[in-house]
Amino acid sequence: MHFLALAARGTLDAVAAECRALSLKILRVDGDGVHLDLSWRELAKALVHLRVAQRLLLELGSGPGDDGETLYLSARRIDWGEWLDARSTFAVYATGDTVPPGKRENGRPFAGLTDLRFVGLRVKDAIADDLTRRLGRRPDVDRRDPQVTVVVRGHQGRWTFYLDASDPPLFQRGTRVSPGPAPLKETLAAACVDLSRWDPRQPLLDPMCGSGTLVLEAASKALGIAPGCTRTFAVERWPQHDKTMTRWCGEERADAVARARKALTAPTLRIRASDVDPWSVQATQRNVQEAGLGDVIQVEQADATRLGPQLQGTLLLTNPPYGERLGGSGVTELYQQLGQSWRGKGLESVHVLSAHEQFVESFGWTPLHGQRLTNGAIEVELLSFAPPA
Ligand SMILES: C[S@@+](CC[C@H](N)C(=O)[O-])C[C@H]1O[C@@H](n2cnc3c(N)ncnc32)[C@H](O)[C@@H]1O
Repeated sequence: MHFLALAARGTLDAVAAECRALSLKILRVDGDGVHLDLSWRELAKALVHLRVAQRLLLELGSGPGDDGETLYLSARRIDWGEWLDARSTFAVYATGDTVPPGKRENGRPFAGLTDLRFVGLRVKDAIADDLTRRLGRRPDVDRRDPQVTVVVRGHQGRWTFYLDASDPPLFQRGTRVSPGPAPLKETLAAACVDLSRWDPRQPLLDPMCGSGTLVLEAASKALGIAPGCTRTFAVERWPQHDKTMTRWCGEERADAVARARKALTAPTLRIRASDVDPWSVQATQRNVQEAGLGDVIQVEQADATRLGPQLQGTLLLTNPPYGERLGGSGVTELYQQLGQSWRGKGLESVHVLSAHEQFVESFGWTPLHGQRLTNGAIEVELLSFAPPA
């Protein structure tokens, strides 16, 4: 079966690398993500182990759609009865390119599809009509807690229909109890850890840790703790597959938990997290405990502009306030102080995830590399620096 491991902007290489590391069969890699050929058993493995991919979607088919009618006909070509039964609840989400109005090759005008909510409604109608004809009953739409989530993605007037096997999205690991005011998505934090090229033998520090997402992802990856080992996935609720997939996902989870327990018996990592804000320190401590990483990650209250001397060989990975969510005043002054105070401390490298256009200028170090990413709706960049002499 054809699945798409969705990659957020800037994370495609990391998603492809994690698919290869799990020995998943890659069909192709394109702008959206990594296309995979997976059995149901392999799907369970991918769901439990993928760290950077956003979602895993099962591709059902695709077709043209330059107005409501042609889109509806394309959606009707799918055998929805294979995936939903008369008692299923479902929801439809549409994303991607809309279609402006225009003329077909035969000169006939078409209205275009300029509103993604309308796209979702037309596909919902096609699914409901198909199931009513096959099963004699219209299934219920439930946007809050659907059993089956249908995703429709548009690209240049073609629409591809998927079922979301992961729902809720894979960034929801199920272990964060205290989110903090500006948390990173776990999938983005995992991508940052990969991009920083942190070697688990070297010390790692996040001196502006917020709720601790970066250090939690780093520790889990280094210890091989599967990100999906404590949560369930939509495919386990699909009417046609619930029992088999619940068993297989359950086996993957149990195996992952056993391996995590073993890894936690003798952790050798040197990971520290700190924040100036006591509430953030508490949030990180709670999240670290919940993830079972209390013996692995040291958490303390500290000002990032006054770091202690014990930083020789440390990789510093952090996400300072952008000013957008945490209040704008004084962030450039903070960046300047960070740039001055982190010199001469013996740091091996510094990686800063920032959305602030004046970060580099204020920080005063020349980046070796920058990778553009997105944090929800915010465009961010992971900037990598070698400390100046
Ligand atoms: C964008 S948030 C980090 C969010 C974090 N990556 C997460 O996923 O939760 C920035 C953090 O920097 C902290 N901060 C701001 N100024 C600081 C300073 N001088 N020293 C240490 N932490 C500071 C804030 O308290 C806040 O928790």
